[in-house]
Amino acid sequence: MNAESPLPESPSPESPSRPPSSLPESPSPSPPESPSPQPPPLLQVRDLVVEFATRHGRARVLDRVSLGVARGEILGLVGESGCGKSMTALAILGLVPGPAGRIAGGSIQLEGRELTGLGDEPLRRIRGKDIGMIFQEPMSSLNPVFTVGEQIAESVRLHENAGRKAAWARAVAMLKAVDIPEPAARARAYPHQLSGGMRQRVMIAIALACRPRVLIADEPTTALDTTVQAQIFDLLRELQRDTGAAIILITHDMGAVAELADRVAVMYAGRVVEQGGVAQVLSAPRHPYTRGLSACVPHLDTGPGGDGGGDGDGDGAGAGDGDGGDGDGDAGAGRRELVEIPGVVPSLFAMPRGCAFAPRCADAVAKCARERPAMRAIPAAAGHAAACWVTAG
Ligand SMILES: Nc1ncnc2c1ncn2[C@@H]1O[C@H](COP(=O)(O)OP(=O)(O)OP(=O)(O)O)[C@@H](O)[C@H]1O
Ligand code: SF4
Ligand SMILES: [Mg+2]
Repeated sequence: MNAESPLPESPSPESPSRPPSSLPESPSPSPPESPSPQPPPLLQVRDLVVEFATRHGRARVLDRVSLGVARGEILGLVGESGCGKSMTALAILGLVPGPAGRIAGGSIQLEGRELTGLGDEPLRRIRGKDIGMIFQEPMSSLNPVFTVGEQIAESVRLHENAGRKAAWARAVAMLKAVDIPEPAARARAYPHQLSGGMRQRVMIAIALACRPRVLIADEPTTALDTTVQAQIFDLLRELQRDTGAAIILITHDMGAVAELADRVAVMYAGRVVEQGGVAQVLSAPRHPYTRGLSACVPHLDTGPGGDGGGDGDGDGAGAGDGDGGDGDGDAGAGRRELVEIPGVVPSLFAMPRGCAFAPRCADAVAKCARERPAMRAIPAAAGHAAACWVTAG
């Protein structure tokens, strides 16, 4: 991000009192009994259950998911494909695809305000304004028939009642803030005229245009090469520092989690199975599943040659302008992905009665197949918890 141009101020008369450094403090109706090193969560999800009605019966895709993220904190949300990361994000945004899918239980609170059960209109106001989202697929999330400037400005107009001129000025300023060269000209470009890296920056600009308190970034760098990935991560970190936003970073990339996140929540088969500080969870994982995932972290130490660093392969040309030095080729072979763990995630329709990881777990004992382990705090490791009969607690 351009260090000389912090995120632009809101043009809206409704929100001048919400500059990045003065976001309202989270209300604390009952002050903590003792000083805690962890700030209170801005967003708190408790026992969230999401179910889908399917031809084969009811599928519970999220099963009592609990997680929280504090102001200025980055929470990494990791786990294998299909474990419920994106669904958690959609549920927080009130976007569980209905009518088949629904939130069947639990609570989602933003600064103490309950979001489950809110109607479409209040949820629409919250999306974009209070909670921003960078979706997994930038191209499918951007509208091909509007310029990127129009799309950013539309979000500002929608959420802040800004006039056309002011909203456009903010769109240009946001493009500048996310380091897009010649932002005034680029604002008039259509998505297909920009490189993949630039489109991803546009998505970030849209997500941050209204200074959300919480940003959810779902695999924000999946399609990008390692050079651009690093740039996007730098950008996220700087934006989070400038705005104090809480960020939930959904990723397969344990390296990104190690570099960026303050805390990490590990999901398996629709449940959170381990949660804690990033150093705790990555260097001393307690859940056997996390141990499997963490096995790829040593790749972080292999240096530029080891992970494909320096492979910016091109000029950033999507179909269109090719300048900007924003290479966006396919993710190179050196991307740091989660390692493969033998076996597969159980079907939603054949979930084991006990621990869902039992069929793949080398540590399993008889009890694991019978009873489901709850999350338990790890003694002498503040904030670290895991759901395992054998290795946690
Ligand atoms: N519309 C839907 N109807 C029924 N089940 C769904 C629907 N969308 C997602 N699911 C199921 O919900 C579960 C969680 O999916 P989700 O997209 O959250 O996974 P994910 O962790 O984000 O995976 P990935 O890493 O591949 O993006 C999966 O089992 C998926 O099949
Ligand atoms: S509860 Fe048992 S099966 Fe589940 S992760 Fe722990 S040891 Fe493995
Ligand atoms: Mg996903």
